[in-house]
Amino acid sequence: MTRPPLSRRVSGLSALELAQLLRTAQAVGAIDIALGIPPGTPPSAAVAGAVEALRSGHHQYSDPAGLLALREQVAADLLATRGAQVDPESEITITCGATEGTMMALLAVTDPGDEVILLDPAFETYFGTVELCGAVARRVALRNPGWRLDIAALRAAISPRTRAIVVNTPHNPTGRSFDATELNAIIGLCCEYGLTCITDEVYERFIYDGRPHVSPLTLPGASAHSIVLGSLSKTLSMSGWRIGYCLADPEVTAALRKVHQRTTIGASTPLQHGAAASTASWWNDVDEVKQFQHRRDEMANSLDQMGFEVSVPEGGWFILAGTEGLGVPSDELAARLVTSAGVLVAPGTAFFAERAEGRRWIRTTFVRDHELTVEALERMRKLLG
Ligand SMILES: Cc1ncc(COP(=O)(O)O)c(C=O)c1O
Repeated sequence: MTRPPLSRRVSGLSALELAQLLRTAQAVGAIDIALGIPPGTPPSAAVAGAVEALRSGHHQYSDPAGLLALREQVAADLLATRGAQVDPESEITITCGATEGTMMALLAVTDPGDEVILLDPAFETYFGTVELCGAVARRVALRNPGWRLDIAALRAAISPRTRAIVVNTPHNPTGRSFDATELNAIIGLCCEYGLTCITDEVYERFIYDGRPHVSPLTLPGASAHSIVLGSLSKTLSMSGWRIGYCLADPEVTAALRKVHQRTTIGASTPLQHGAAASTASWWNDVDEVKQFQHRRDEMANSLDQMGFEVSVPEGGWFILAGTEGLGVPSDELAARLVTSAGVLVAPGTAFFAERAEGRRWIRTTFVRDHELTVEALERMRKLLG
């Protein structure tokens, strides 16, 4: 039997390394300090709201732009936390997570063959999403020490085919929280060359040491050049609910909604009701951020003592730790840690364009169950000691 061919688009994609990791961790029962799975449960008001929505018959399609009550909740939160005035009617679209938001943004601003600039390293899914859109990814390396944005390199990567720059802040996997100088420079390039800055801000609340979160949303002159992606996955510990949002000016929002109507039609109706039922205080759990900051310090110290090269993350949920000092490439180290210590860490190969560069880093998260994380670090210390 000859099978019909699969698309070139899909054939060029590899399976996500992180999805494979999840299966490995479950199969061997390892302690997982690799994946950014939210540690808590959604607010009880959200769960009650979703149950109530199911019981009271909210089972069908709803407004593809998203439930107005939820868009209003997002707008109220943006005003309270960032002083940003965003119109829920014409500038907010509820998505199936920031993952769908990324796809929508890229499909709305690129044509096949156009170029999209990604930072290197980057969240694993971006590269494949750019490819699925038929666009071409150009990677611009963040510079060490400190994973700084190299504006000259960014400018040099812009070609007549460039349409967008994707920035994730706070950044997965490095923990950088890009500052106003960096973001202003990116927006400046977008204005100069007519590009869109797509910012993935799913970790916007998780910033440490009193730093502010800087977003194009509050930068002057950015609005026509910016699509901001947000998510409730991490903020409200509801990654399985698949609820996120896209923010853009009305013209871009109209384009995003055309895509959204064809990708998913809309996010789940009853779960949007649930998310809308959670109150603003749940959206700003300052204690959780303080706890994560403390755990970040614990993990950074402990990895440093084991001989990893660590730059302390400014935000987000992850530490990208260098393995060169240990003399072992990260993929070998990760395999040894799973089999000999029952600890799952993510090899850096998932995040870098060049495999050789990825083999110099592992990514760990400090947000999972605290006791298990302490145990995982102790097991690593014993194995490496
Ligand atoms: C940088 C980044 N963007 C997007 C996502 C996925 O977000 P969502 O669950 O809203 O699709 C993740 C999840 O780990 C992430 O780390």
